[in-house]
Amino acid sequence: MSKAKKAKKPKTKKSKKPKKPGKSAKSNKKPNRLPGDPSKAEMIKRMIRVDQAGEYGAVRIYEGQLSVLGKSASAPALEHMAEQERRHLDAFNKLIPERRVRPTALLPLWHVAGFALGAGTALLGEKAAHACTVAVEEVIDEHYAGQIARLDALGKDSGGEKKLRDRLEEFRLEEVEHKQTSLDLGAREAPGYEALTGLIRAGSRLAIWLSTRI
Ligand SMILES: [Fe+2]
Ligand SMILES: [Fe+2]
Repeated sequence: MSKAKKAKKPKTKKSKKPKKPGKSAKSNKKPNRLPGDPSKAEMIKRMIRVDQAGEYGAVRIYEGQLSVLGKSASAPALEHMAEQERRHLDAFNKLIPERRVRPTALLPLWHVAGFALGAGTALLGEKAAHACTVAVEEVIDEHYAGQIARLDALGKDSGGEKKLRDRLEEFRLEEVEHKQTSLDLGAREAPGYEALTGLIRAGSRLAIWLSTRI
């Protein structure tokens, strides 16, 4: 009898084991996640990291532009856009400690590169500066729209991140406004508009890719 009892116990244990291979049970709950995809928490941290970097870069671009064009006819528009970028940056500066996000290690690079891009294009002329804004804002519009779509894909109330989602949308609309302002100020008449904006778009996408990861 006692032998039979002992023999039975391991059998029931063995039969249970294959049913709970912890990892696959967890991944079954989230069918939308592919192997190698970051978790929701990691995805949101990456979003805040790259957005802080982007807004930091944007502030530096406008500072660079204003260092050259501070007394030009475009100055009031540049000041207004710079003010909005500072507000965007403030929001992410608050989210970084709130969500325990490690900021990108590349902020010192964006400090220099953003200013250089702003000042460099401004030195080519007001219209080139506005062409720079068009290119950057086009990429940022796409970028925020992508983040919003990823949050919405989390389900009801953007997976509990509705506040963040709505804030991204608010900022996205202001970026679109910046692009329109720059177009209205003659961005397309900048010499070499296509080549210049193509180059800046590629650089902006690279900066986003790097700041998400490093
Ligand atoms: Fe912004
Ligand atoms: Fe902007």
